[in-house]
Order: sequence, then C-alpha cells, then structure tokens
Amino acid sequence: MIRINENYLKLQSSYLFSDIAKRMARFQEANPEREIIRLGIGDVTRALPRACIEAFHKAVDEMANESTFRGYGPEQGYPFLREAIAAHDFQARGADISPDEVFVSDGAKCDTGNFQELFSTDIVIAIPDPVYPVYVDSNVMSGRTGFFSHGRYEGLVYLESTTENHYVPHIPKERVDLIYLCFPNNPTGATASKEQLQLWVDYARQNRSLILFDAAYESYIRDDSLPHSIYEMKGARDVAVEFRSFSKNAGFTGTRCAYSVVPKSVSVYDSEGNRHALHALWNRRHTTKFNGVAYPVQKAAEAVYSEEGQEEVRNLIEGYLTNARLVRRTMTDLGYECVGGKNSPYIWVDAKMDSWEFFELLLRKAGVVCTPGSGFGRCGTHHVRISAFNSYENIEKAMGKIADALK
Ligand code: MLT
Repeated sequence: MIRINENYLKLQSSYLFSDIAKRMARFQEANPEREIIRLGIGDVTRALPRACIEAFHKAVDEMANESTFRGYGPEQGYPFLREAIAAHDFQARGADISPDEVFVSDGAKCDTGNFQELFSTDIVIAIPDPVYPVYVDSNVMSGRTGFFSHGRYEGLVYLESTTENHYVPHIPKERVDLIYLCFPNNPTGATASKEQLQLWVDYARQNRSLILFDAAYESYIRDDSLPHSIYEMKGARDVAVEFRSFSKNAGFTGTRCAYSVVPKSVSVYDSEGNRHALHALWNRRHTTKFNGVAYPVQKAAEAVYSEEGQEEVRNLIEGYLTNARLVRRTMTDLGYECVGGKNSPYIWVDAKMDSWEFFELLLRKAGVVCTPGSGFGRCGTHHVRISAFNSYENIEKAMGKIADALK
C-alpha cells in the first residue's frame, strides 16, 4: 500500500491564508450584498511599473522570432539579472555579493520553504514567534519537529517577539543550528537595527550556525539608519543566506520572480565535522529541481533597476506606505497599540481580545478582512495584522468602517 509522510498529519488542517479565504468566502456567500475589503494576505493591488511592462512585452516578442527565441535558460537565472541584482541591491550598499552568488527563483515563499531540505533532520531550529508560517510548516513536513501542542510544535526553539523586546527577539540561551529571521518583519512590521543584527551574526559565527534572513520587505525601509541586507553586517558573508523578492516592491506577486543569495564563503558540516560549501549544495538542489524563471519575467525584473523602473517602484511603495500610516493612525486613535507601518506595509495591532474573535468582529461589523495573529504563533493570540496593500480609497473606506464598528 502507498504510505504517506506522516509528518503532514502534524500540520494544522490548512494553511493560514487559505483558511482566511474560506471564512471570507463563506461570509460573502451568506451576505452577497456586503462589500468586503481585503487587508488580510499581503497581496499587492497596483499595476506593474511601466518600465517592467515594456521590457516584458519586448521579451515576449523576442520569443515569437526564431532568431531571438529562447528555450531553457540557466537554472540560476540569466546573467543580466544576476548582475543587476548584485550591483544595485548589494554592492551599492557596500555589501560584497557577486552575481554568481545570486539564485533567481519564482518566489521567496518557495525558497524559504525549500531551503531546509539541505539540512539534517536532527538540527536545532530557532523560529521567531510570531512568524511567517512557511518557515515552521516546511520544517514540520520534513520531520524536524514533534507534535503541535498548546500552540507550538515540540522540538523547536521559539524566539518570542513581544512589546518587551520591541519585537526583535533576544539571542537564545541555548545553542541552535538554524535561525530564521525576517526584517522588516512579517507579520509585526518591526525592524532591526545594525547593532541588533550584528549580535545575531556574531552568535552564528561563534556557534557555527546558519541564519536564513528573509528581506522580502526591505524596500519599505525609510529610516536611513536601518540595514537593508544582512550582508551589511560584519562577518555575515560566512553565516547567512538572504531571501529577496520582486513581489512587494514591484508588484510581482502574480508574475513571480525572487532570488536567494548564497555566498560562496558559507560553510556547513557533515556528521564527521567535515566542511562543505553551502553554495555548491544549493546549486545542486536548484539545478535538479528548478528550471529557471521565464525569460520575459526576468527581463521585466531587470527593468526594476532602470532609472524609470526605480522611480516607479519608489512611487508604488510610497503609496502603500501612505496607506500604512493611515491604518496605524486610525487604530492608534481608536485606542489600539500598534507596531509596524513605518518601514513596513504591515501593522501589528494589539486587539485586546482573542485574535480570531477580533477577525470575526471586523469582518461582520466592518466588512474588513485582516489576519488573526494566532495564525502566526502563540505570541499573536491577542493581535491581528492589517495589511496596507490596497488602494488608498479602499484603505480610507475600511478605516472609516472599522472606526464606526469599534467606537
Ligand atoms: C503574507 O500575507 O504574509 C504574504 O503575502 C504571504 C506571502 O508573501 O507568501
């Protein structure tokens, strides 16, 4: 008989955002006349930048002509895109990353979910709480945890992010092998300073640990003192992998393009303590299981780095940040404590009640969908996340309805 990977049975019944979508659909079916404004999943709503669309069209036309047609591309990405990424996103900020350390992919969700495959099943993993659920679930699927009880999986080291530590977790007292960090943070919208990130890099160096740094929301940073990349920290090239995406800056959630940076200087170890290059392992995995991102999509992503593309992306982000400020101001004025929304499109609101109850309240009374914090971990039990990804008109309308509902 065909047997299953029983680790899947340890998972919660459905992925957080599918669960929310189902509840929303049920509500809409029962109340077809009600308008629902979605501030739940962080999905962009504005059109792709003009520069990207033009590059996209041009590349599609190239595919129509035998002399410029392209079949399989390099699995790691075309050199034109890897070079633009290394130059603009890293070297321009003083981070020493070369194009062949960049692996272009179809999403940071896939990359952060897949990366754990390279490691032994008995490593110790540190996971923030609250956290983007993909980091946890992908490790559950691979058998690196015990069962789920009291809102947590056995066997993981949870790094709590609360008001006490301003949502930047403390270094754990115990030794851990793999550390997941995300700044600007999803879901809290909190940011980490250079000093705070340097502590993590120093810890990883001392313990031969590896940091998986998710920087998908990096382009929302407006405070000049904040780091955009883990590689701005001294020594990070030896102990960190970074994930980035074109989804939240240039609106590629439906177009799909992202990348991972795996420096050649990162070492990982076998059971005998022999050193191996992480870059070679990831390259082996990537070339075996992935066939590369479509050529027109990579050309569209390259256009993000053109002068016109940069300006359009800045405007897109400014729009979402304006929304974020309005959400934060409204919720604060209504008496709710908030974090995020300043260098991030997410606002983490202390709901002062169970997060699913608050979710239902906003849905029923205001017709607004948010994300219940408990879906991100036990520390989110009394919080919700409100996303600023929508039109200004809808955000204004949603905030008016929430204000009426909560007064
Ligand atoms: C979120 O809402 O947390 C994100 O949109 C999910 C994702 O990017 O996969």
